[in-house]
Amino acid sequence: MKVAVFISGRGTNLQALIDVCNQDDTPAEIALVVSNRPNAQGLQRAAAAGIATVVVDHTTFDSREAFDKALDTAVRRAGCEFICLAGFMRVLTDDFMRDWRDRILNIHPAILPAFPGLNCHARAIEAGVKITGCTVHYARPELDNGPIIAQAAVPVMPDDTEETLAARILESEHRIYPMALKLIAQGRVRVVNEIVRIQDVDLANGELVNPASA
Ligand code: GRF
Repeated sequence: MKVAVFISGRGTNLQALIDVCNQDDTPAEIALVVSNRPNAQGLQRAAAAGIATVVVDHTTFDSREAFDKALDTAVRRAGCEFICLAGFMRVLTDDFMRDWRDRILNIHPAILPAFPGLNCHARAIEAGVKITGCTVHYARPELDNGPIIAQAAVPVMPDDTEETLAARILESEHRIYPMALKLIAQGRVRVVNEIVRIQDVDLANGELVNPASA
């Protein structure tokens, strides 16, 4: 399964996806990394892994539709049939989401439907929740919404700052995102009435919740 990964920055989730695709039991390869920002650090990670990269700079397009068309063209030209959003900070158009329905994933650093949108670490701290975490879901036109594939619970510490909480959640992101991609590439994931069903997954041992590793 050829996968395109969209980034805007650091690319640590991209790196986790690159690593899992190098495992023998993951029938997927990352064939393209797309960044909307020319200086995204994740582009170096892709280059280091020998993965093709393209910059589709949103500031050079006069409409969201034109930007999304350029993204779509780049992905199809690379022969990709699946997209992973990994810290991609642009909202894609409804048409794009419909064209890629159930073939585009996103990761969000909260336990959706709690804390959708931006600044979710600060909002979790302000709300005084004791548990937050991260969610891998199929992307839908509504932001941070869509059928949930995997989640991880992460404790909030009394002295947490946005940064310390984000760093703790990121560790779990780097486990559940690769695991979700592996399960999909293995053909074990179905969406039935907007609920994700996963074949032969060991729920009893928390394989989908707080997995020990990808
Ligand atoms: C991650 O926390 C992800 O959940 C959020 O943006 C951050 C991207 O980090 N959408 P990285 O670029 O993958 O390191």
